This record gives sequence, structure tokens and C-alpha cells, in this order.
Amino acid sequence: MSVDNRENILKNINAALKSRKLYPAGHPATTAPVAKTYALLVDELKSRNNLVIAIASEALLYEEDFIQDAEKLYADLMQHMGAKNIDAIIFEKGLSEKEMGSLFEIMAGADIKGAELQKEMYNKGVTHITLKSMPIGKRNILEIYNGAVEVVKNVMGEVRMGKIPKSEPVESIIGEMTDSVLSDPNAMIGLTMIKNYDNYLYNHSVNVSILSLSLAKFMGLSDQEVHDAGVGALLHDIGKTGVSEQIIRKPGGLSSEEWEKIKEHPLLGSNIIKRMEGMNEAVGRIIYEHHIKYDHSGYPQTTSSLHPLSQIICICDAYDALTTLRVYQKPHDPSEAVRILTNFSGKHFNPETLSAFVRMMGVYPVGTMVRLSTNELGVVTRLNQESPERPVVKVLYGSDGVEAFPYELDFLLDAAVPLT
Ligand SMILES: [Fe+2]
Repeated sequence: MSVDNRENILKNINAALKSRKLYPAGHPATTAPVAKTYALLVDELKSRNNLVIAIASEALLYEEDFIQDAEKLYADLMQHMGAKNIDAIIFEKGLSEKEMGSLFEIMAGADIKGAELQKEMYNKGVTHITLKSMPIGKRNILEIYNGAVEVVKNVMGEVRMGKIPKSEPVESIIGEMTDSVLSDPNAMIGLTMIKNYDNYLYNHSVNVSILSLSLAKFMGLSDQEVHDAGVGALLHDIGKTGVSEQIIRKPGGLSSEEWEKIKEHPLLGSNIIKRMEGMNEAVGRIIYEHHIKYDHSGYPQTTSSLHPLSQIICICDAYDALTTLRVYQKPHDPSEAVRILTNFSGKHFNPETLSAFVRMMGVYPVGTMVRLSTNELGVVTRLNQESPERPVVKVLYGSDGVEAFPYELDFLLDAAVPLT
């Protein structure tokens, strides 16, 4: 990248924003710098997949370079990023001039800021420009994910030591996870593809929690129910602390006595919840019910009707287990896992809850390996709300089967088929 190009890009972005203060949309004084910026970016993105302009510690960064005197040279850009709470603008290969126009319209226009801006970008069909906002003090989603793994590990560790765990860390991490799901559900669901075989129980708990609170939100449930779904899912297997490690980790088949022990974990779990101060009653109930199944063919045996949140967790638990490598099972591809779940609609799973789950995950869920019409292979990284059959795919292998430098595509997908 040349310094000239860098300066020209920043200068034209700044001019585009400045002109929007003086002239109406569509005026040549506003369209010219947009066109110029677009041309420069396209040129720049020939040799890279994305380009990041960010603000860190009140300084302007172009990729990793600090820009001197930015507050004087690019005052409008700095002001707009500050006022809109934008920490980074990421331009991706494949962007269009229309997307550039929408970016400036959004940055200079309506009174929305922070995470709302990205939603507005999606609404306008902008998929090659990301506006990242991370209010001070907030953690990014991977930090939150890892934080949640730590919370589950600590809570289970305390139970094993005979202590009654505090509810506060659980409530607080679920709050953070819910905020993240609201601001970018796809990114959060994408994280559930993190599978850690050694740490299976902890990662699985976090994955089920992300999926469950996303589904509760997707189904339009109340904030309290979304929260309870997240907490219940995060702690759904807490009762396994009362079953010996040997049985939990046993690779082969279980004897009938061992199986009876495993079946105690929902009751053990709900008893632990009852002793944790401040836990909502629903949480204990959904933990008790998470293996009963819609047709009551699971355990513990009961005839009473199931809490709606238990049915959410039951589906998300099964989905995460299916997509994870286990001693006895190869991981299923996400779209294949969804198909397997649908075979049990009305049996193990509530049909309405399952149909909401399928709609939420999309035709090609995040993490699905697909073969494109070009014969390239890739993995779905983001859903496209407007046309679910055309998700954003990160291409990993070229049509010649050779590993490609990964890049994202959101077209060419009419003939995409999941690999099974
Ligand atoms: Fe369980």
C-alpha cells in the first residue's frame, strides 16, 4: 500500500462526510468523493481481503499505522466516528459503490449510533462494510465466550468442592452474552462452532446457552425468559458434578447402573440451583426437564407438561452435541444436524420450537461447509437476512482443490450445496 493511496482514501472519506453537511444527497459535491473513495478502495482491495480504519486511544489508525495530525487533516472523519461511537470501519473485498454510498448516508444521517449502525447497514443490504463499535469497558465476543467458559468451570468447581456457587457471575455473563446476541446474532452463533474436546462440558454449556438465548429472542419471548433460557442452558448439566468423572468420560457403552447414575443429573442440577441465592425458579425447572423430551420418552419419567424454555434447551443441547466430535460420533455438519433434528419433530422436539430453530439457523447455518457453483469449497460465515439461500461464504479451497487464501463471497451461491 502506498502512502499516497492511504492519504487519498482518508482525504476522500473525509471530503465525502464533510460535503454531506453542506450539500444534499445526490449533489455532485457529495457523489464525487464517494466515487473516488470507492475507486481507491477497490484498487487497494486487489491485494488484500479487507482494510481497517479505526480509532484507538483517540488516535486514527489506518491498518496498523497511526496517522499523524488526523484530528486536523481528517477532522470530519474523526468527528463522525466519535459521535456515532464507531471504533472501526472495515471494508471487505467485493464491496460496491452503492454500499459506499449507504455507508456515508448512515454515518452522516439518522440519529443512530453504536451497534444499531451495523443493523442499519444490514437493512440497507451492505455486507462488505462493517461498522464495529465497542463501548469502553465492553469486551469483544470472543472474550465474552471465554469468560462464559470460565464462569461454568468455576461454578462447577465450587459445586465439586461442596460450596454453593454465587449467582452473580452467571447473571452477569448472561447479560453480556445477551447484549452480544442482540447486536450481532450471527457472530455469536458462529462462535458456537468452537468445539473443545478436552473441555467438552464447559464449551458445550456455553454453546447451548448462546443458541438457547438466541432462539428465545428469535421467538419473541420476554427479556426475563431470554435471560432464564441463557442461565438454564449455561448450567443445564451442572448436576453432572454429582456423577463420577469416570462415568461421564467413559468412551464405551455404559452399564445399566452407570446409565441410571447419568439419569440423575437433571434432578441433582435442579437441587443445586434451588440452593443458589437469587436464582429464578424457572431455571431449576428447565434444568430438571432438559432430557424429558417433547413426547416424554426421555428422563426423568413424568407426565406433567414441559416448560417452553425446557423445549428450547432440549433442541439446542441436541444440536450442539450433534455438531461436536465425540468418542462415538463424527461431528455432523450444521445443516445435516438440522436435518437430523427435524426427523425428531413431534417426537423428541416441540414442532413449533424446532421450526423456529430451523428458521433461525437458516438454510445453510453458520459453519456449514458448502460447494459453490464454481466448484470452490468454503464455509458459511454469515447469514443473509434478505435471502437465506445466499449466505456469505469464506472460500477455503479453490476449484482446483488447492487451499486458497481465505476470502469472503456473497454471490455465486445459487448452486451451493452442503457437503455431507
Ligand atoms: Fe444433560
